[in-house]
Amino acid sequence: MKATAIANANIALIKYWGKRDQKLILPNNNSIAITLDGLNTITTVEFDKKYERDLFILDGLEIKEGKEFERVVNHLNLIRAMAHIKEKAKVSSKNNFPTAAGLASSASGFAALSLAASKAAGLNLDPKELSILARQGSGSATRSCLGGFVEWLKGEKPDGSDSFAVQIAPPEHWPEFRMIVTIISSAKKKISSRAGMAQTIATSPMYKVWLDTIDEDLDKMRRGILEKDFSLVGKTAEFNCLKMHATMITTNPSIIYWMPETLEIIQAVLMWREEGLECYFTIDAGSQVKIICLDNQVPEIEKRLQAIKGVKETIVCKTGAGPKLIEKHLF
Ligand code: DP6
Repeated sequence: MKATAIANANIALIKYWGKRDQKLILPNNNSIAITLDGLNTITTVEFDKKYERDLFILDGLEIKEGKEFERVVNHLNLIRAMAHIKEKAKVSSKNNFPTAAGLASSASGFAALSLAASKAAGLNLDPKELSILARQGSGSATRSCLGGFVEWLKGEKPDGSDSFAVQIAPPEHWPEFRMIVTIISSAKKKISSRAGMAQTIATSPMYKVWLDTIDEDLDKMRRGILEKDFSLVGKTAEFNCLKMHATMITTNPSIIYWMPETLEIIQAVLMWREEGLECYFTIDAGSQVKIICLDNQVPEIEKRLQAIKGVKETIVCKTGAGPKLIEKHLF
């Protein structure tokens, strides 16, 4: 009744922004992401009669209440119902990336929790079933259930049975592809993606444009990935990110996730491109910028990023593998 899983974080190239069902976490649009090699969560889950209540330990600290705790307990309840078991569980989870990186730890977190807990409960889920389960913890976790370039299909059915992740291409399809995560010094506390997207749907006049133009972005991205057309992938990702931020900025009250350093990096990337250094940016519901490039440009981009005062750290990522079970438990 004990299992441990490791899952990588992912960053969207075509963003998931807005839900058609809050409870089942069903999106309004498909999204496409790369699973990042090396930015991961390890989670051990044990179901046992000896536990009187569910226990959740994150990076060594017990979390006893609050939204984070409730989301984990809800997820365990889903798995208990699927496996027809009643035992409470101990969950211990560890992220290997700095919280300040502004990376959706909920993506790798719910992917690792779904795999470890389902296995510990005696279930053997295939990647489709696993992504349907992970989706109900956090939307972006759907995509962390597969490696490489991954698309989350929004599906049409009200029960969510057709809203899962599929692989567009495995990690080895494009070994030169890189994402540089930059960490800036003044990362401000953010409004959660969940709250931000709900407010966008409720108040932004731009949301309609987002939905009307998303299929075009998805088509270009799929083609760009399959043909390894870096310019098409980069341009499409950057434009899609800016459209998402346009919907956020135009909510009421306005949500602006960018900090001065965010804009400084955006402008630097645009300038570098004019100078012939081809790279693009993408930004999620936060202030950290991720730079998309090919491996031969990494040294030059890193050198230039170091010259920007607000940049504290950079993490260079390749495309990574999907989640897997490991032998070494956290407890
Ligand atoms: C901007 O997956 O964190 O990063 O489903 O409510 O848990 P919930 O939201 P979450 O949203 C991620 C939004 C995004 C874009 C993306 O990852 O596609």
